[in-house]
Amino acid sequence: MLSIIIPTYCEEENIHPVVARIRAALDFHLDYEIVFVDDNSPDETTKRIAEIQNQGVPVRVIVRQDERGLCSAITRGFREARGDLLLCMDADLSHPPEAILDMVHTLQQNQADMVIGSRYISGGQTEKGWGLFRWLNSRVAGLLARPLTAVRDAMTGFFVMPRSIFEQAKDLNPIGYKFALELIIKCPCRKVVEIPIFFADRQRGESKLNLQEQARYILHLKRLYDYRYGKASRFIQFCLIGLSGIVVNLLAYTVLRKLGLRLELAYALAIVLSLTWNYFPNRYLTFDLTSHDPWLPQYGRFVATCALGALINWSVTVALSHEVAWFKVHELTALLTGIAAGTIFNFLISHEWAFRPVSARS
Ligand code: GDD
Ligand code: MN
Repeated sequence: MLSIIIPTYCEEENIHPVVARIRAALDFHLDYEIVFVDDNSPDETTKRIAEIQNQGVPVRVIVRQDERGLCSAITRGFREARGDLLLCMDADLSHPPEAILDMVHTLQQNQADMVIGSRYISGGQTEKGWGLFRWLNSRVAGLLARPLTAVRDAMTGFFVMPRSIFEQAKDLNPIGYKFALELIIKCPCRKVVEIPIFFADRQRGESKLNLQEQARYILHLKRLYDYRYGKASRFIQFCLIGLSGIVVNLLAYTVLRKLGLRLELAYALAIVLSLTWNYFPNRYLTFDLTSHDPWLPQYGRFVATCALGALINWSVTVALSHEVAWFKVHELTALLTGIAAGTIFNFLISHEWAFRPVSARS
C-alpha cells in the first residue's frame, strides 16, 4: 500500500481539490491511504478533512497540538503511516498528483531508494513568472547542497520511498523545510531517481516558507555537512571564521590607529577584538555541541589555544626562513606556512580541548 503524507497548516481551501485530484489519479490503480499531519491549524483544515472521511475516502488526520514545523510533521506522518511505500507531497497542489503513479512505478522498476518529482532535470518546469529573486534563491539553495548529493532537486517536498529505507534513517534531526535532503543523507539513499514534474504555483492560501525558515536551512546544511564530513566540515567552518577574523583585525587596527592609539596598543586591541569575534561563531556554529557549556572558561581556553597557535605560527615562520634556503628567498611562503601550521594547531586543540563538550569529558 502507498501512504501519501500531506503536512498541512491552514490549507482549508486546498483539502478538497487535492484529494479530488489524488482520487482521479489513483482510484482503481493503486491501494493507498492519505495521512494529513496538521499542526492544529486555526482555520477549518481539519473540518474539511472530516468531510472527506465521511465520504468513505481512505483519509486520516494526525493533529499535533503543540508542535510546529514541516520536517517534524512529515516525520510523524511517516512513522504512523501504514503503507510499505511512503510518499510526501504539499497540500497546495504545487505537486501534481498525476505524477504519483509514475513515481511509484519508477521506484519499483528501478529498485530505487527514493524517487523525486523534480523541477530541475530536463522536462521539469516551474511556473512562468518566478521573479529573479525567487529563482536565484531556489538555485543557490540547491547549489549549496550539491557537495552533499548529486540530486538536482534535493530541495523538493515531493518524493516517495520504501518504508524499509525510511526505517534505516539514523539520527534524524528534522529542523526546517528540507526533509528529502535530510533523508537522502541520513537513510542513506544510494539510488535516487528523479522524474520531471511541472511545479505549479499555489492558487489558494499562503506559503509558510519565510525568512526564518531560510536561515534555518543554512543551519540544517551545516549539520548535514558535519554529519557527512565530520571534522573536515568543522575545519572549513573554522577557517572561514578565521578569515573573517583577519578582516576584523585589519579593520580594528586601522580604526584604532586613526583614533590616535599607539602602535603597540592598537595591535594588542585588534588581536583581542578579532579573537573575540572568532570565538562566538565557533561556539555557536563550528562547535555547536558546546554552545550550552559555560562560556567564560571556554573563552579562556580558546584564547590560550590561539596564543599558543600564534607562537607556533611565529616559530615555524622564523625557523623556515632561517634554516631552509628556499624559504630564505620566498619569505612570504614561510609566512603562509606558519599561518597554516598555526591554524591547524588552533583547530585541533580547539576541537580536542577548548571546545570539547563538558559532557564528553570524564
Ligand atoms: N504540519 C505542518 N506544519 N505543515 C506545514 C508547516 C508546518 O509547520 N509549514 C508548512 N506546512 C505545509 C503546508 O501547509 C503545505 O502543505 C506544505 O507544508 C508546503 O508548505 P508551503 O508553505 O506551500 O511551502 P513552499 O511552497 O514555500 O515550499 C515547498 O516547496 C519547496 C521547494 O520550492 C515545499 O515543498 C518545500 O518542502 C520545498 O522545499
Ligand atoms: Mn507551496
